[in-house]
Amino acid sequence: MYYRASLIFLFFFSFLTSFRAYAQDPNYVYHNCPNTTTYTRNSTYSTNLRTLLSSLSSNNSSYSTGFQTATSGQGTDSVTGLFLCRGDVSPEFCRSCVAFVVNDTSNRCPNEREVVLYYDECIVRYSNRNILSTLSTNGAVVMSNGQNITSNQQAQFRDLLLSTMNQAASEAADSPRKFDARKATWTAPQSLYGLVQCTPDLTRQDCLSCLQQGINQLPTDKIGGQFLVPSCSSRYELYPFYNESAITTPQPPVSAPPPPGKGGSSSLLVVAIVVPIIVVALLFIACYCFLAKRTKKTFGTASAFDGDDITTAESLQLDYRTIQTATNDFAESNKIGQGGFGEVYKVIIVP
Ligand SMILES: *[C@@H]1O[C@H](CO)[C@@H](O)[C@H](O)[C@H]1NC(C)=O
Ligand SMILES: *[C@@H]1O[C@H](CO)[C@@H](O)[C@H](O)[C@H]1NC(C)=O
Ligand SMILES: *[C@@H]1O[C@H](CO)[C@@H](O)[C@H](O)[C@H]1NC(C)=O
Ligand SMILES: *[C@@H]1O[C@H](CO)[C@@H](O)[C@H](O)[C@H]1NC(C)=O
Ligand SMILES: *[C@@H]1O[C@H](CO)[C@@H](O)[C@H](O)[C@H]1NC(C)=O
Ligand SMILES: *[C@@H]1O[C@H](CO)[C@@H](O)[C@H](O)[C@H]1NC(C)=O
Ligand SMILES: *[C@@H]1O[C@H](CO)[C@@H](O)[C@H](O)[C@H]1NC(C)=O
Repeated sequence: MYYRASLIFLFFFSFLTSFRAYAQDPNYVYHNCPNTTTYTRNSTYSTNLRTLLSSLSSNNSSYSTGFQTATSGQGTDSVTGLFLCRGDVSPEFCRSCVAFVVNDTSNRCPNEREVVLYYDECIVRYSNRNILSTLSTNGAVVMSNGQNITSNQQAQFRDLLLSTMNQAASEAADSPRKFDARKATWTAPQSLYGLVQCTPDLTRQDCLSCLQQGINQLPTDKIGGQFLVPSCSSRYELYPFYNESAITTPQPPVSAPPPPGKGGSSSLLVVAIVVPIIVVALLFIACYCFLAKRTKKTFGTASAFDGDDITTAESLQLDYRTIQTATNDFAESNKIGQGGFGEVYKVIIVP
């Protein structure tokens, strides 16, 4: 009984921890800023760039759409930039992601003119050229999760992967946000999660062609893979690396609306409070059933209840074990970074 309860608690605890990790810093993936075109510290260009970056991270940027462009300066000193938040990211997290990445540009690309910073939850780009409404597939990055799909399942996996990703790509290209995420059933307990996104300034055709290039470069025999270029990204994993509830159609509210002025951190608190209540309630029901069974063996509902309780506890154990197994399965030697929802493995740059 105690063993079971502690497993339940562990499960919820790991669940909570992943929530907290997500609420913290964005997860760095890669950056690309060739030092072939640089600017000098006190130049007009550097002033324009500073203006551009503060405009992008200003609090009137459109974090709710997750996409913002800006231009600063004239002629050869002009600089154009944008940010794009992943389609499932909340406006609040989009804002903090952009602020974080904008601040990070000065560390990672202190004097380069052409810059792309990829984070899991948002990307920031700027250039001395006009990068808006222009397809760019320069400096492609392909990443793969080191673990192989079992060899006798590879053909089947490849079919599922390509059909899922191609379907996502055509949905994304047709949508105004140029984003799609979906899951497909793989082997019984496991699902394949795919996500594609273009910068929404691209035409349908450019977006589709960008994503198709990406999908053709994805590894198809691994348990996860990712393709990144300035204009679009594609990724798949065998675990939910994006917020599923943010992309499915929202359910109509069933209970009273939340009190006004509640932010992200207070909803964390609510989750934290609800979890101990659930744990206590489960323990209480379990104890009740145990006692009821001992004292009143003929009490019919008690044994029915008992059955329910075991089912609940066992399904939670299974979930926890699944998570644990999935985590151990990732090859540690290839891991170069970790975030709330994402882990980054070996990087291959496509020439
Ligand atoms: C540019 O970067 C390369 C390697 O990343 C380095 O060897 C070279 O010295 C750098 N050039 C300048 C001008 O900083
Ligand atoms: C650049 O700015 C620094 C202060 O930020 C100043 O000390 C320096 O003289 C400036 N250099 C030029 C060439 O303007
Ligand atoms: C925008 O930011 C300024 C300070 O940076 C703050 O005073 C203001 O209240 C903010 N506006 C909104 C709408 O959040
Ligand atoms: C934000 O407001 C400032 C002035 O308050 C304006 O210059 C800037 O263009 C605005 N940015 C966006 C993205 O609307
Ligand atoms: C910006 O980056 C510097 C490191 O270069 C760090 O010390 C600072 O805390 C960062 N600021 C924010 C708001 O993240
Ligand atoms: C994956 O399979 C390839 C051959 O297809 C092999 O070279 C590689 O070592 C395998 N990697 C792992 C982590 O098993
Ligand atoms: C996921 O999305 C839902 C709906 O937008 C939101 O309420 C929830 O806070 C999000 N979860 C995380 C971990 O961001």
